[in-house]
Amino acid sequence: MTRTIDLALIGGTGLYRFPDLQGVERHALDTPYGHPSDSIVIGTVGRHRIAFLARHGESHTIPPHRVNYRANLWALHHLGARRVIGINAVGGIRADMVPRILAVPDQIIDYTSERITSFCDVAGAQVRHIDFSEPYTASLRQGLIEAADSIGIAIVDGGCYGATQGPRLETRAEVSRMRRDGCDLVGMTGMPEAALARELDLEYACIALIANWAAGCGETKEISLAEIYANLAAATAQVPTLVVALLEGL
Ligand code: HPA
Repeated sequence: MTRTIDLALIGGTGLYRFPDLQGVERHALDTPYGHPSDSIVIGTVGRHRIAFLARHGESHTIPPHRVNYRANLWALHHLGARRVIGINAVGGIRADMVPRILAVPDQIIDYTSERITSFCDVAGAQVRHIDFSEPYTASLRQGLIEAADSIGIAIVDGGCYGATQGPRLETRAEVSRMRRDGCDLVGMTGMPEAALARELDLEYACIALIANWAAGCGETKEISLAEIYANLAAATAQVPTLVVALLEGL
């Protein structure tokens, strides 16, 4: 009998494993869409069972545009996950999206190109037009906000995630355009992950970890990778506690 998975996590840049998982099993799967980014690690935290997958691979060898988003989500769904949190490093555009803090976006604008964006993209597959007016699951977003509040983690509730192609960072002009479009955050991996999750009827929300000011925002003249990694480490350190608080509230 398959045991329930309470929550699946897709870790982004800076988060390659979930600490202190007990009774770990590793699942190396092949899917109808190819291989996921890495093995899926399933284990328990307290009385909760979680699945973890490193989006870029555990050694960070897969760039955002080469992630096999379909295989990742299909594999998590196949193993029994029904609720997924994508953890994504982002640049802050809006003034309150300050490096090192966390945000739970509520909207998306997709600027990516040449990624496979749908499970329908297979000859003969039934075409399905999902409703994507609200790209994230409201109850899961709310769970994250309440969990953060309950343990005193500062988190921004809402914001529009602009998904870019990467792997390069954006120009100032690109970010100005994104700001005019209404984007508050910019990252490279939010799409098509969110849309594919909806196609599989998974509950899905995003924890955005603000790693830097986006190009031309804040006081930044040039974005340094060292700074990105230092900020990300500070933001990432809060994720396990937040996830445990979320699990307690589910
Ligand atoms: N742009 C896109 N993706 C990112 C950024 C950024 O500034 N920072 C971290 N991921």
